[in-house]
Amino acid sequence: MVRAAVGHVLSMSHGSFDKTSAVETHGYRPEVEPEVIALLQGAFGTGWGDRAFWRWKHANRPGFSPLDVRIYRFAGRLIGCWHMAQRNVRLGPGLEIAASVEGDYAMHPDFRGVGMGRDAASLREVRALAERGIVARFAFTSSTLYERVYRPKLGYRRIRAVTLHYRKLISDRAVQERLQVIGERLRAQGIIQRLVREAPLTVRIDGPGFSPCQLVLEQDSSRCGAVLDREPDLAVRLPFSLLSVRGSVALRAALAALLTGRMRIRHAMRFVRRGLGALVR
Ligand SMILES: CC(C)(COP(=O)(O)OP(=O)(O)OC[C@H]1O[C@@H](n2cnc3c(N)ncnc32)[C@H](O)[C@@H]1OP(=O)(O)O)[C@@H](O)C(=O)NCCC(=O)NCCS
Repeated sequence: MVRAAVGHVLSMSHGSFDKTSAVETHGYRPEVEPEVIALLQGAFGTGWGDRAFWRWKHANRPGFSPLDVRIYRFAGRLIGCWHMAQRNVRLGPGLEIAASVEGDYAMHPDFRGVGMGRDAASLREVRALAERGIVARFAFTSSTLYERVYRPKLGYRRIRAVTLHYRKLISDRAVQERLQVIGERLRAQGIIQRLVREAPLTVRIDGPGFSPCQLVLEQDSSRCGAVLDREPDLAVRLPFSLLSVRGSVALRAALAALLTGRMRIRHAMRFVRRGLGALVR
């Protein structure tokens, strides 16, 4: 219904949707939190996170400016949002630019497909970024959405390689999800199946930039979560970079990290004893 109304304004007045600036924009105000979170959960699912997560990621982040939360409103109703962090990006020696690193972009389903993102309000948003001295925008998205929206409609271009060091932006939840995937792969190995046949294997993992967690491998499943009271069978201190290494280079990277002391293992003897026990059984 609302979608039709917006489309109507667009088609009936031939762009007056843009010219009359029917969509208003504004920055963060504490009272917008429930609306924004409801919109993000509607767009990405409740697994996206809760209010505490949103605050951690945005309003409570060091360096946060109320201008970093961008709200779109139509007839008073919150219809979309996007979020940014201003960072300096070094393009080359002596060439550093102020950039907007963006995410948590969503439109309410009723307002999708009406051309937001390239309407007058969004163009005003671009001017506002320029007034803040920002000269580039960076976004993260799936390849499909990039091909459907970001490239053809919004004019973004893929960057081949970007090195980001914004550990603060990566949640423990993301780290734990990644560890769980690694756990699943390990669990598929015959040797690990034998190891966990009689009792779960608990690996305590910590490292710079994320809270310690425990990966528990069982015969049918693996899970990664907060540290349990249970004494781990193995404790590993991991460099953060190792979490993103995939495929055949992972083993080599782990060995290199071990040899250079960036990765440390405790309770190795306990683990080896258990491994030998499982092998002879
Ligand atoms: C992404 C989003 C903000 C785009 O807004 P919009 O008003 O729908 O954008 P447009 O009308 O310009 O483009 C819609 C197109 O994107 C496609 N699209 C939308 N979401 C998509 C998704 N998750 N994956 C692939 N394609 C998607 C639509 O099918 C449509 O394709 P078409 O033009 O070929 O018909 C909106 O779809 C949305 O809120 N999605 C859910 C949250 C999300 O995925 N945010 C982006 C995270 S990077």
